Amino acid sequence: MSHKRLLIPGPTETPADILQQQTRRLIGHRGADYTELYVGIIDKLGKYFESQQNRTVLTASGTIWMDITARNLVKKKALAGVCGAFSKRMYQTIGDAGKEVDPLNVEWGKAHKPEDVLQALAQDDYDTIALVHNETSTGVRNPIEEIGKAIKKEYPDIMFVVDAVSSAGGDYLVPEKLNSDLMFMSTQKCFAVPPGLSMAFYSDAALERAETITGRGHYTDLLAIHKYWLKKQQNPTTPNISLMYALSYQLDRMLAEGPQARYERHKSMAEYTRNWARKKMQMFPEPGYESVTVSTIANTLGKNIGDLNKELGKRDYQIANGYGDLKEKTFRIGHMGEWTLPEIKSLLWHIDDIWGE
Ligand SMILES: Cc1ncc(COP(=O)(O)O)c(C=O)c1O
Repeated sequence: MSHKRLLIPGPTETPADILQQQTRRLIGHRGADYTELYVGIIDKLGKYFESQQNRTVLTASGTIWMDITARNLVKKKALAGVCGAFSKRMYQTIGDAGKEVDPLNVEWGKAHKPEDVLQALAQDDYDTIALVHNETSTGVRNPIEEIGKAIKKEYPDIMFVVDAVSSAGGDYLVPEKLNSDLMFMSTQKCFAVPPGLSMAFYSDAALERAETITGRGHYTDLLAIHKYWLKKQQNPTTPNISLMYALSYQLDRMLAEGPQARYERHKSMAEYTRNWARKKMQMFPEPGYESVTVSTIANTLGKNIGDLNKELGKRDYQIANGYGDLKEKTFRIGHMGEWTLPEIKSLLWHIDDIWGE
């Protein structure tokens, strides 16, 4: 079977040597060998994200951190930024957990701005605010560092949660610079590791908040996860050891490239894609707030995106249609993980060729 190269916004193309790591023989997850592997991963995550914050790796995709947010951090009432499908999921998850939550809606394609967030926070007694950094459905990149600074200056005790699932490891993010209490991400996006693990950075204040809240669940109990780390430097439940091998290996590669260089590589792919798109159509995100990991292009020429993807498939490429209601109105090119500019140029050449342009 031919393989379509994945230029979708996750899972992204995973190099063979990373995949290969998963074929290593298993080890027991309560032994010294596993501790060494896991401590290595935790150290490397700290180095890559230039952070001293607490961190963990869970055997679950990134969405679990929405449940963890709801059950460990929201004491009474949260504000959740909603600027697309994934941030809407966070809003709904907090509500599903029986906690009070207000949405801070912006039109899809627009970004949250610090002044709007501050204004919304002033409306009620919120103890938590959750925002997505990179909204994968709209391709919008929220100015998360500016927002974080503004929030913590005015509301030092509020829990600031950042969904960095589709940006961390590609875009440049340092938890301390964001002032985040929780920042979470998934392996299948910019890490270019298969799906199944999620990583998170969390503050001491987040742990203090969790201590005051009951009903944290079992798998989703941040305090239990943290305490197990302190006691054993392992995970409370059986982890996906094969994926841990792959993650550890890839973190070495990411550190060799460096976070800044990785960001620059992603930026160059995003800028090239944007310039290409603007010559014929429009970008969907408002100018100045475009993602560096996924380009969402407004299909202003009314092209049939399903047909385009079929033709691309014959050339062993796959891009993504618009998400949900944005299907056919937009399409998305995921330039995340290990992709490089020459490969993006080649993909865009193929699209032009298919369209006869
Ligand atoms: C911004 C964002 N948040 C959350 C998720 C959910 O992550 P996962 O599929 O790892 O649970 C995604 C997945 O695409 C995402 O793009």
